[in-house]
This record gives sequence, C-alpha cells and structure tokens, in this order.
Amino acid sequence: MSSTKPISLILSITLFFSLLLGSSSAQTVVKASYWFPGSEFPITDIDSSLFTHLFCAFADLNAQTNQVTVASASQARFSTFTQTVQRRNSAVRTLLSIGGGAADKTAFASMASNPTSRKSFIDSSIRLARSYGFHGLDLDWEYPSTATEMSNFGTLLREWRSAVVAEASSTGRPRLLLAAAVFYSNNYYSVLYPVQAVADSLDWVNLMAYDFYGPGWSRVTGPPAALYDPSNAGLSGDAGVRSWTQAGLPAKKAVLGFPYYGYAWRLANANSRSYYAATTGAAITPDGSIGYGQIRKFIVDNGATTVYNNTVAGDYCYSGTTWIGYDDTQSIVTKVRYAKQRGLLGYFSWHVGADDNSGLSRAASQAW
Ligand SMILES: *[C@@H]1O[C@H](CO)[C@@H](O)[C@H](O)[C@H]1NC(C)=O
Repeated sequence: MSSTKPISLILSITLFFSLLLGSSSAQTVVKASYWFPGSEFPITDIDSSLFTHLFCAFADLNAQTNQVTVASASQARFSTFTQTVQRRNSAVRTLLSIGGGAADKTAFASMASNPTSRKSFIDSSIRLARSYGFHGLDLDWEYPSTATEMSNFGTLLREWRSAVVAEASSTGRPRLLLAAAVFYSNNYYSVLYPVQAVADSLDWVNLMAYDFYGPGWSRVTGPPAALYDPSNAGLSGDAGVRSWTQAGLPAKKAVLGFPYYGYAWRLANANSRSYYAATTGAAITPDGSIGYGQIRKFIVDNGATTVYNNTVAGDYCYSGTTWIGYDDTQSIVTKVRYAKQRGLLGYFSWHVGADDNSGLSRAASQAW
C-alpha cells in the first residue's frame, strides 16, 4: 500500500520528537525551594531566577474521599503560582506538594493501603496539577512508619508513575514530574524505605536533612542540620545521603535539603555556649524555631557573637543566654558543594520566605 510509507514516516517523526521531549524532561540539576502560604511571603517576591524548581506547599489529602484538595483560602495563589513565578524566570518548573509535617499521617497510610483509594489520590492529584498549571507533584507523607506502610508507599509510587506516563501519552503533554520529600535516611527508626520503588518511580527525592537537634526534643544545644557528625551518632546530611545511596538510590535521584531556619535555646549557663551545652528549653518562640531573616535581625539587634563550625558545617550565634543553631552562608555553600561533588541531582531549602533578601538562595545558586 502506498499509504504505509507516509504513515511510518509520521510515526518515526512522532517517535523522534517524543524521544527528544523525553530526554529533555530528565533533570540536569535541581536548585529548589518550598513556598507555603503560612509564611506570608508574597509569591511575587520570590526571585525565581535563583531556582530551577519551586514547590508550592501544601495541598491536602481528604481522608473521606482520598482525593487531593487545596484549601479554599489558598486556591487563588496556588492556581496562579506557576504563572507568577515564571514572570522572572520562564524556565522555572513548579511542583504541587501534598501533605507536609502537619498533615494527618494516618490518612496517607489508609489511602495507600488499597487500590481504590490510591486511584482516587492519583487521579485527583493529576487533575489538580493540570488544572492549576503545575509541572509536577511532590508527596510529603511524614512518614510511612511501619513495614506495611513502606510497602504501600512503594506500590503507590509505582502506580503514580504509571498514571502520569499514561496521562502524558494520552494527552500528548510533557509527563508530570514526580518527587517526594523523605526522611534524611532510608532507615526510618528501623523501618526501611522501598528504595527500588522510589528509584524506579520518582524523578528524585528531597532528603530532609534537618531538625536533628531542636529544643522540642533535645535539652542540649546541637547543630540542627549538620552535614557531618563527628560523634558518629548518624545525625547528619552525609550519613543520610550515604544510607540512601548504599541502599541503591542513584545519587542522581537525591536532592539534599537544608533549612532556612534555626532553633533557639535558653542556655542554662551563659558561659557554656558551644554544642551540647545544657539548656532550660526553647527561646524566642514557643518551639524555638526562627527564620534566617529573623536570626540576622537578632544578631544585629543584640550584637550577637557568630561562630561557623566547619567540622559539622553549621553556624550558631549567642547573646546572653540565648543560643541559636542555624545555617548561614558558609554552611549552605558547603552543603551545595558537597551535593555537587557527590554527584547528587541538587539541593532544596525549606522555605524560600525565611531567607534574608534571597541571600542564602543566591549563595547556593552561585556555589553549584
Ligand atoms: C565543632 O564542633 C565539634 C562538635 O561539637 C567540636 O568537636 C569542635 O571542637 C568544634 N570546632 C570548633 C572550631 O569550634
């Protein structure tokens, strides 16, 4: 038949372009941060030229319907998030994050436990991402906490991947990116993440390498987000990266997270102010958490002493009995260089609104 030739030519042209599109969707670097409405940081103030990807957090899981929803108070900002951040950087990619530390983790465990509710979650997440114009989705289930939940998490990821691949081929649109924010280590209190399912299904994982020390769970001061832990207790970004990669996660699927916030303690003794000093609890805020911009202001207002510890790659400052552990420029730059040298995909921060005039994000972007 004379018509077979043109058809096969069209097919091979289509295949050629879909291969091109497929390869261009593979990320070469991820320089990312999270934004969330509670930060009260205007989306228009994000300097998106410093990022390749921005996460909009959080969409919620409805425990009754197992569908992903956005609170009505957030819908206007979420639905215009992508066009807003693309004004300063048309190449920036956006992902809608689902869940978060404050979300009901039993709802995630229940949703992931059976095929019908997983399908509700998956289909509604794709509809929402497309209708709001996001380029991808990010699951922040903190955390799957039993072997069964981990296994269901893996099943959910595999089905999610199949669904976004199918959706892309049926609509002809670029496939939605899939990411997840996970514990800094692949070992969550002796329960292991399904690393193979993670590696097969996700474009990358965000390793939350922070909250190692905080007044809520530590009566002594400590580096909240050490890259290295000389005491070898395993509380460090490096220990987390090694655990994931040794368990089989390709380095190119790992994105190292760091905080744009610190923790403030009240020292028991104003003269004992190094790491592991005794405290009487949180300072400045109820849980001691304090954004980087506020820390800079505290340092200036109080003439606080600042210390960079290059053994752990962490900063702290103190004035009187107030002691704050945090990441300043040197810590951030050290972590970004680490991520690059170890062949990781990139880095992310929580959260963009806590920066001081984009100072940390600029230093990070330049250090890669
Ligand atoms: C950095 O912190 C480690 C761990 O507490 C400590 O052993 C070391 O002496 C500190 N280094 C400096 C220069 O303060």
